[in-house]
Formats: sequence, structure tokens, C-alpha cells
Amino acid sequence: MFEQLDQIEKEAKAALANVQSLDDLAAWRTQWTGKKGSLAQASQSIGKLDPKDRPAFGQRFGAIKQALSEQEATLESRLQSAALHQELEEDAVDISLPGRAANIGRLHPSTQSLRRIQHIFAEMGFQVWESREVESDEYNFELLNMPAHHPARDMWDTFYVQSDDPQQKVVLRTHTSPGQIHVMRTLNPEPIRVILPGKCYRYEPVSARSEMMFHQVEGLVIGRNITMADLKGTLANFARRMFKDDVKVRYRPSYFPFTEPSVEVDIECFICGGEGCRICKKSGWLEILGAGMVHPTVLRNGGYDPAEWSGFAFGMGPERQTMLRYDIDDIRWFFSNDGRFLEQFG
Ligand code: PHE
Repeated sequence: MFEQLDQIEKEAKAALANVQSLDDLAAWRTQWTGKKGSLAQASQSIGKLDPKDRPAFGQRFGAIKQALSEQEATLESRLQSAALHQELEEDAVDISLPGRAANIGRLHPSTQSLRRIQHIFAEMGFQVWESREVESDEYNFELLNMPAHHPARDMWDTFYVQSDDPQQKVVLRTHTSPGQIHVMRTLNPEPIRVILPGKCYRYEPVSARSEMMFHQVEGLVIGRNITMADLKGTLANFARRMFKDDVKVRYRPSYFPFTEPSVEVDIECFICGGEGCRICKKSGWLEILGAGMVHPTVLRNGGYDPAEWSGFAFGMGPERQTMLRYDIDDIRWFFSNDGRFLEQFG
């Protein structure tokens, strides 16, 4: 009887030495240590033994069973980790394959230009304001010194919006200048130094040079001794920061109903350095904005007494400035959502 146990131990250990996989191990278990395995069968013969030999048999049986299951457990965990290892190896990602580049979004060129302009004026102490895009005729024209039928209204072809009030015509603002009146009526009687960026709308045929919607940045400064010298200093500083450190700036007399005197501001063409090229149309100069001293009527409409207060205002187009900077020949690129254009502005 005892020999039979010894025999089983020997053979089971030998068989365990040949186990290569978890499947082999399961088969080994069935054959040797399982419920119907050789060891269990051998244990049944305990009933045939002399009762005095039974405890020794039981002990021997227990010791063999424990030894075998310890060895089995050790082998099982070794096989499991080998299997895991193999699985990881086979499933490994081939990191030598070139990846697909992620498509990174970027800011629209108009947004970039607006942010740059805002940054420059913020550093000069300007506050950034926003004003409404849907305006009354009163704010867009009348309060800016353009009564009904004033010929200067022809400068801005206008989108009219249906309104419930027959007395009050409603328009999409044709420029950011009505924001001047809103700021004055809000801040009055404080001095003012603000810019007003935003969208404007004009009822014009869309072409390479004009869009129905575009941006402007309005500027307004009001104080007690503001002169044309302040206008020139501020705008020249802006042009240097925006375009080139030593850029030459020129002021040309112009006309706007809400400023007097009015100017247009040119910078020396940075493409040809003033020699004359396609971008500056051989003139050597590029127009970048309109400006002037705030008209006394406009000051009064904003609640400022022109005997005490004076100021200057300006308006510029970020799309136009971007077109000049990058030699873009058609404003329609900005709002036609063509990735080939937009992704060039990192
Ligand atoms: N509003 C003018 C335009 O749209 C620009 C401007 C603003 C001119 C402020 C003078 C002062 O053309």
C-alpha cells in the first residue's frame, strides 16, 4: 500500500516535470491530484488496511498531496506569467510605424489680427469695448453728423433690418463708429480711451476687394487737451508696433462727417520699401486706417461740451491689414472656409 503511494508520488512528479503549458497542467491535475485522479483512487484503499496502519497511511497521503499541490501551484504561476508575457509580446504595438499627424486647429487670421491690434492698444492704456451689431439709423448715421439724406451716407451701402417701429429705422452697422456714441453716453463725463473691435456689414456686391461682412477696430480718445499731435503719436506708435519698428507714416487729408479735420493714414510700403510695387500700386504707400479729430457735433451728441473737451477717433480693418501683410489678393478667402487658406496662418 505504502509502495503504491510512493510510486504515485514518483510518477506524478516526473509527469509534472514534462508539463509545458496550462493545458498540460489541467490534464496532469485530472490524472494525478484531481477528484478522480490516481491519488484519490489510492486513498480509497485505506479501508483495506490494518486499522493500526491507517494513521501512518493518512499522514503519508497528506504529505504527498501537499507536496504535489505546492509544486503544482508554483508551476501554475510560472506558466501564467509566461503566458501573459507571450500575449503582450504578440500584441505589441509596432512603434516604428510612422503615425498619422493630428490635425491641429488654429486661430482664424482675422482673430489673430484682432488680438494683435487689441494687445498693442491695451499696452497703450486703451480699454477694449464691444458694441452692438444691429444698430438704429440714429446711431449709425444721425448722431455721427449724418442727418437723413446727407450725401455722405452714400459712403456706406446699408443693410436695413425690419423693425416694428416705423419711426426708428434699424440697420446692420456699416462701421464700428456708432460705438463712439455708446461709449460717450456711458462714460460721460469721464475722459475716454477705448477701442471697439467688431463686425460690420455693407450691402455691396461681394468682390475681391469687398465683403458683405468684415471687421473693424474703432478707437476713441477724449480728454481736455487732446490734439492732432496725440492722434499722430498714437497712430504712428501703433503702426511701428504692428508693422515695422522704423516704418514711415504719412497723414493725408480726407473727409469723414464725424471727424474734423479728417485724415487717412498710410505707411511706407513694406514690400518694396517705398520704391513702388504691385501691392502699393506703384505709389510706395499703403493705406491702413481712417481717423480724425472728433467733430464738435459728435462730442455734443455724446454729452461732451466741445468748449471743454476734444478728442480723436480712428477706424481700421484687420482683414485689410492682413491682406497687405501677406500679399493676399482677395478678401473672399477670409470667410469662405477654405482650409487650404486658413491653415497657412499658424
Ligand atoms: N468709420 C470710418 C469708416 O468706416 C472710419 C473712421 C473711424 C474714420 C473713425 C474716422 C474716425 O470708413
